[in-house]
Amino acid sequence: MPHPPDAQPPILSSQSGAERAVRPPGAAQRVTIVGAGYVGLNTGAVLAYLGHAVTLVDRDAGRVAELRAGHSPIYEHGLTEMLARTQAVTTYSVDLVGAVGEADLIVIAVGTPARANGEAETAFVEAAAAEIALGLRGGREYVVVVKSTVPIGTSRRVEAVIARGLRQRGVEARVRYASNPEFLREGRALHDTLYPDRIVVGSEDPQAVECLRELYRPLLDQTFEPPPLLPRPRGFTPPPLMVTDPTSAEMIKYAANAYLATKISFINEMAGLCQRVGADVDEVARGMGLDARIGPQFLQAGIGWGGSCFPKDMRALQAVAAEYDYSLPIVQAACAVNTRQREHVLERLQEVLKVLRGRHVAVLGLSFKPHTNDVRDSPGLDIVTRLVQRGAYVRAHDPVALDQARAAHPELDVEWYESLDGVDALVLATPWPEYLELDWAEVARRMRQPVVMDGRNALPAAALRAAGLLHIGVGR
Ligand code: UDX
Repeated sequence: MPHPPDAQPPILSSQSGAERAVRPPGAAQRVTIVGAGYVGLNTGAVLAYLGHAVTLVDRDAGRVAELRAGHSPIYEHGLTEMLARTQAVTTYSVDLVGAVGEADLIVIAVGTPARANGEAETAFVEAAAAEIALGLRGGREYVVVVKSTVPIGTSRRVEAVIARGLRQRGVEARVRYASNPEFLREGRALHDTLYPDRIVVGSEDPQAVECLRELYRPLLDQTFEPPPLLPRPRGFTPPPLMVTDPTSAEMIKYAANAYLATKISFINEMAGLCQRVGADVDEVARGMGLDARIGPQFLQAGIGWGGSCFPKDMRALQAVAAEYDYSLPIVQAACAVNTRQREHVLERLQEVLKVLRGRHVAVLGLSFKPHTNDVRDSPGLDIVTRLVQRGAYVRAHDPVALDQARAAHPELDVEWYESLDGVDALVLATPWPEYLELDWAEVARRMRQPVVMDGRNALPAAALRAAGLLHIGVGR
């Protein structure tokens, strides 16, 4: 029975006969996470750090073996240390069916890759739900949480798949559902999990909400001892737990990402006009950001956004809208501006070098942003591809993502190394800290032509000028 909004939901289930783990507030829960990918691993590591008993399940046996051996399969600040610290309270398994029976809470964190039409693929989510149904025990009570970024309405399908599976087995278990989107940035995933702006829970079941409130209690109250590598930001205020319906929770994730991507595209659109009228877009962004209603974040002009989330979520959102015969002109325009930013780099180079064919161009930075080795939809890699298509000779460099870049584009005729000797132009695509501190006099000495395209407006303009380099920015 739903509880009136003001009443405290009971800690104990009113279901007679249901065996429910009776826990004092904030006590450890047994959590099974399905999918040891980006979201699952970071979430699992933090939940284990907070004292919960975590089982991470992945069907990739190699990945599970790696994790058992203490190796992190992904590059993420602090993750190796966090996994080492939580090894004792974490179980890694390939056996999903066997891993859910004893759990209190089951988190679905499998991938939702894009289909050809942009829609997010939910086959893995539904397959996980079907397997979960095979492992649930009769007479027990569970909370199933969808954390994967899924098309609107998927939580409902998960519910239906599990209910059907239980019916087929003739098993009676009480399953409660919640949608709990994540807002992790790559490279800062552990930080964002420990110190979130908000925790969003979408559920029609007050006890599922309570279960998640208790799971996240140490984060909501910020009572945990910060890990040495991930100190609590100064002045950090504990996050609110926002409770809403599942569909709105699913929508929040997409709308937030679309808004952020649009904010970047907006400043990039202004950058084009700044360049024409003789304004400096970084100054414009500074002045805009001082308006508390706008805020300074995500106003860095440059070659635009990429990565595993923004491009995919922007497409998925449009696919959802199309399903409802609705259009999203702002989202569409934000995508178009983002593509134009990449082409803009080539236009600027062409302006100075005239012909690109046969030119030697160095591209620095292939991951989609610093502090990650992820090259998915990377603006830098896209620029490399466009340069090669125009007949330029490209030398590409990245401090950590060279192998990933090469594997993503084995067909590209590119030299994957760092020499700047004899290049006609240098493009900064990803502002890794080491690129910002190059010896610019030495760079100028080695280049054939002193052309530097600063695709992130991140290089020290005065130092480059002093070294005799032509410093071309975005919107300046
Ligand atoms: C994003 C969201 O921030 C996160 O909340 C969500 O859960 C996943 O997607 P992420 O993809 O890791 O996270 O990267 P983010 O740091 O947001 O940057 C996205 C892209 O925008 C990068 O390519 C970055 O270089 C670019 N960017 C960011 C800009 O071009 N300008 C900015 O001002 C900020």
